[in-house]
Amino acid sequence: MAKAYEVIPDIEIISSYFPIPNTGFLAVNAFLIKAKEPVLVDTGMGIESEEFMEALKTLIDPKDLKWVWITHDDADHTGNLKEVLEAAPNARLVANSLAVLRMSTAWPVPMDRVYWLNPGESIDVGDRKLTAVRPPLFDNPTTIGIYDDKSEAFFSADCFGAIVPSPVQNIDDLKEEELSQGMISWAGADNPWIYMNKPGVLSQALDSIRKMAPKIILSSHLPPVQGKNEQLLDLLAKVPSSAPFVAPNQEALEQILAQMRGGN
Ligand SMILES: [Fe+2]
Ligand SMILES: [Fe+2]
Repeated sequence: MAKAYEVIPDIEIISSYFPIPNTGFLAVNAFLIKAKEPVLVDTGMGIESEEFMEALKTLIDPKDLKWVWITHDDADHTGNLKEVLEAAPNARLVANSLAVLRMSTAWPVPMDRVYWLNPGESIDVGDRKLTAVRPPLFDNPTTIGIYDDKSEAFFSADCFGAIVPSPVQNIDDLKEEELSQGMISWAGADNPWIYMNKPGVLSQALDSIRKMAPKIILSSHLPPVQGKNEQLLDLLAKVPSSAPFVAPNQEALEQILAQMRGGN
């Protein structure tokens, strides 16, 4: 159920949770930056299109949107992109060129509305600069998170996500153990390349966020987090030495289906 609320004075969240069978829940967040030129960051899940669009309209008249920033072209970030672009004729689509190219294989992305960005490049949205940042962990080569130099928020895309036991709005409603288990297992499952990483490369990437020192971390897959940068960076540093994730196989699927049919 998509729910909209204010995170900090100029940033709103449209938050939802996706249930993962036998595992927990994954937050799926989109954000509205109430900049002079308003920016929607990601577009939620297609399975709850109506709810997402309703939640968006409680925050802004989509016609007032000037930018729609897609952090990467995974389905949980682009679920309502077509609907949003239709409802927001004055908005340009900001994305990495590879994301646009890949989406164009599925539907005709309006190329005259597209704005291509690489990590390190910025757009000016009137009262602030938004810089594309490649987060330390990413599951898709087109990923561009955002550093907002006015609010000092870091929109980290899939990085710092966690699978949690139940939907929560406030990060402090998670026990420390739930956060650490949820974040390390999500990070390993979503970024299997981390187990073949060269030594030092991950710690450099983590250090770059440490130096950025964002006032708030806005992950697509965790409630907003303030004042816990060190704790979160330390958790990700532990991922390469954690046990690699093994995805459920056909045997597991058959068990799940049997459970759903009321078997054992
Ligand atoms: Fe992703
Ligand atoms: Fe995601």
